[in-house]
Amino acid sequence: METIHKIIEFSNEISILEISYIVASVLFILGLKKLSHPLTARSGNLWAAAGMAAAILFTILFHKTTITHADGTTVVKGISNIPWILAALAIGSFIGWYASVKVKMTAMPQMVSIFNGMGGACAALISMMEFPGLQNELAAAGDTHMLTGESIAILLGLMIGSVSFAGSMVAFLKLDGRIGDFKHPVLRIVNLTFLILLLVALVVIMVMQPVAGNNWPIYLFAAAALIYGVTFVMPIGGADMPVVISLLNSFTGVAAAMGGFLYGNTAMLTGGILVGSSGTILTILMCNAMNRSLLNVIIGAFGGTATGLEDSGDKTVKEISLSDAAVLLSYSQKVYIVPGYGLAVAQAQHLCHELDNLLTSKGVEVKYAIHPVAGRMPGHMNVLLAEADVPYEKLVEMEDANNEMGNTDVVIVIGANDVVNPAAEDDPSSPIYGMPIIKALDARNIIVMKRSMAAGYAAIPNNLFYHQKNRMLFGDAKATLQKLVAEIKSL
Ligand code: TAP
Repeated sequence: METIHKIIEFSNEISILEISYIVASVLFILGLKKLSHPLTARSGNLWAAAGMAAAILFTILFHKTTITHADGTTVVKGISNIPWILAALAIGSFIGWYASVKVKMTAMPQMVSIFNGMGGACAALISMMEFPGLQNELAAAGDTHMLTGESIAILLGLMIGSVSFAGSMVAFLKLDGRIGDFKHPVLRIVNLTFLILLLVALVVIMVMQPVAGNNWPIYLFAAAALIYGVTFVMPIGGADMPVVISLLNSFTGVAAAMGGFLYGNTAMLTGGILVGSSGTILTILMCNAMNRSLLNVIIGAFGGTATGLEDSGDKTVKEISLSDAAVLLSYSQKVYIVPGYGLAVAQAQHLCHELDNLLTSKGVEVKYAIHPVAGRMPGHMNVLLAEADVPYEKLVEMEDANNEMGNTDVVIVIGANDVVNPAAEDDPSSPIYGMPIIKALDARNIIVMKRSMAAGYAAIPNNLFYHQKNRMLFGDAKATLQKLVAEIKSL
């Protein structure tokens, strides 16, 4: 009998929906796994997107709500407003597709912060929508407080989602250069006060007696969370934005997981937990790569207000001509390329690969030293070089590359600055002191390609440029590489 019952249950629509959520969750996990390697990342994205599409489609087709009327009769209802849902899906998909096609590689962090903010806003709106219903339900049942699992999920979803939305919008505006940092010691006190207020408000709302139709506490709570999101991100230095975006990303995941708890929706729960945990791991990895604590990132003053070593006027900078650079590289045995943010700005990755091919054809061993926080987002250099079809085996992680620097003839630093700055090792007053760097100084010769003597993102001078081993090849990375490749070909 029990078996028959199970078979019937298995074949009804709710079970199909639940199975689809499990399939979607598995697709999310496999997709995420595939994202860990550049060769499989593209298909990983598609797998996760397929999981999301399946979860949405099956929800539209099979989700049912049971409504109990006052006379005790029950009605089972499917999803309503389907045309609206489809229209919203079409508009959202078009915007997502258009943005991904149009956005420049260098503007990717901005796009990530906008998309992340939208996720936070969705989670917050879900909570805003669900709170009045729960409030009325509890009031009708004569409850004396709102201390239920549902209210906790709603309030946490609203708080974390709102902080993530507001914070991501500020991060977007900063990364896009539309607003600057606003650092003031008083902001730390404001932030702490808001955080405490939010947590106290959360408890107060939960122990309040529910009154039907009384929604103002939730609106006030949302407003406070939005303000906190702004004041939380406002003082954080520009160079720390990728870390903050990753942190906000994990917030959005947690907020979405709250929605999953609220609706008992496994796909939403798994998706939220995956985003939350991977965002947290990424945040920790980035902090480790910069040798800084998360607290230091949040309250630190990295980027723009640096105090590091000042340039002394008597230092000399040596330049190298294109023909000398061409000869030096062509007659080397081993060359390491250190790519940085400037390579992405110049979009010189294809030329970089051409230089690599040309030197390799001359018997030179060419590799790329990849610093974990080179560029402006995690994996920036890997993505950039993969776009130019540089074989993945040629990309060497920082520690391994550093071990090989001693027997490297030439290190070519292309549009990188902070990640090769020796101040990280020898100037305790520098904001980047302690950050691991690519030890370009260990190589026999260094060539730095950049447009000027300007500082990098941490806004600090770089003594590598003045070192006797180093010679500067000034100019836009793309134009310089073009000329260098031509010069080597003409040898
Ligand atoms: P940066 O230190 O920002 O230096 C980039 C250099 O590229 C600049 O000094 C600039 O000098 C040069 N440049 C710009 N446009 C160029 C062009 N068209 N052609 C040639 N050169 C050009 O970059 P990096 O070494 O990659 O370091 C990344 C920074 O971001 C670090 O401070 C890191 O901590 C921070 N950060 C990164 C992340 C992630 S996840 N990647 C996360 C947090 C923080 P000129 O203006 O003289 O050309």
